[in-house]
Amino acid sequence: MSKFARVESIVLAACIVAGLGGWTAPITAQAGERDPYPGVGYDQKYRPQFHFTAKKFWHNDPNGMVYYKGEYHLFLQHNPRGIGWGNMTWGHAISKDMVHWKQIQHAIHPYDGGTIFSGSAAVDWKNTSGFGKEGKNAEKPIVACYSHARQPFTQHIAYSIDRGRTWTRYEGNPVVPNQGLSGGERDPKIFWHEPTKKWVMVLYVKGGVARIFNSDDLKKWAKVSDVTGRGFHECPDMFELPVDGKKSNMKWVLYDGGFTYSIGTFDGKTYKIEATPGRGDLGGNFYAAQTFNDTPDGRIIQIAWMRGSDFPKKGMPFNQQMSFPCVLTLRNTDQGIRIYRWPVKEIKTIYKKTHKVKKTSVKPGDNPLKDIKAELLDISAEIAMGSAKRVVFNLRGSRVTYDGSTLTTPRGKAGMKPRDGRITVRILVDRGSVEVFGNEGRVSMTSYALHEPENLNLALTAEGGEAVVNKLVVNELESAWK
Ligand code: FRU
Repeated sequence: MSKFARVESIVLAACIVAGLGGWTAPITAQAGERDPYPGVGYDQKYRPQFHFTAKKFWHNDPNGMVYYKGEYHLFLQHNPRGIGWGNMTWGHAISKDMVHWKQIQHAIHPYDGGTIFSGSAAVDWKNTSGFGKEGKNAEKPIVACYSHARQPFTQHIAYSIDRGRTWTRYEGNPVVPNQGLSGGERDPKIFWHEPTKKWVMVLYVKGGVARIFNSDDLKKWAKVSDVTGRGFHECPDMFELPVDGKKSNMKWVLYDGGFTYSIGTFDGKTYKIEATPGRGDLGGNFYAAQTFNDTPDGRIIQIAWMRGSDFPKKGMPFNQQMSFPCVLTLRNTDQGIRIYRWPVKEIKTIYKKTHKVKKTSVKPGDNPLKDIKAELLDISAEIAMGSAKRVVFNLRGSRVTYDGSTLTTPRGKAGMKPRDGRITVRILVDRGSVEVFGNEGRVSMTSYALHEPENLNLALTAEGGEAVVNKLVVNELESAWK
């Protein structure tokens, strides 16, 4: 059964049991800053130490990613009652730096026989919705838009006027009725489009189609166009970026749940595809990624659900994990414009100790990392292949290899060419993951990989010849949960 068919049948079964409307959760979620799972710690054997995990139970997609007044908000498709998928509720975490997170009360609970599926959130700076209060000290409304998962699905909004601490559902829901194209239209991404001074919603409406809507107030939405793309599937995201940092050459990016992206133009109503480069991450565990709205410095920062991170059940109160936040940029390459992904600089807040290895040649049998033992890592290297057939990182048992044309991680492979005879790799290692960024982020690979606590060994070796390691920096990280 496909995941979505399973979703539908579970929702249907839940509706029957609940008697359509007799759902047990509260009608308006009053979420404060309280810890939803007091007594649960972050120190279990395999618990990621600098990747977000739900304190307890299951999560999948990141939702509602938005920044407001010094805080990044990360909502999560969360099951507050079990270790597997179900009872979809918007869990909520806040952070000042996207590295240290605090999970607070769940923001939006199931109601009226429908669970709460994925969606986004934005700050309504001009109070176009009228949800905000008068007065210069009044907080701006943060408005969340999500799919109410009761067949046929509709799109709803809820808002907070206390910096995301409590959420109120709009009484005029749904704001977008079912479009009659599939039962499961879902995952609205909303953002403000400054040139046309309108809100935009991109909604997955059926296989291969994302529908674009406009609104003046986040409450009344009008369909303006459809984007069709072969295979396009759920969880759309869309944003504008300069190419090579040049404001004179802005392009739009649209991607789906699998991070299959296109590059194009967007006038506020119609998105025209100019190129379809393929998938933006090839690590095998990257899904339903979303980017923050309203970042203070304009960075486009992305977090994905590391789908398939099936941590051992024994002793682990949580299930699944998020990818490390990465900045997205667009750059011209010999193959056309491509997305680059790069870990946010805030990772430096957990740097504990830095080892710099001097330029060295590595022959079979050599290992310039042999004296370093560490658990959590951010490693950067620049390597010239020389006569080596392959260079191999073995990081706590996880292998990352490069053979002159292919970069291989625990769960993925990607083509990568040396530039001026050299490659660069950056590798983040946590208890449950290896994230690899090749050639400054041109290649991105996010992989689930479980590391045994007793194995702290690191190796960089060459096979079949001698490679030259021009630069090698190993940053040991401390836990973000301290
Ligand atoms: C993607 C997805 C979304 C849906 C959510 C339900 O992983 O299937 O399309 O809104 O998960 O949890």
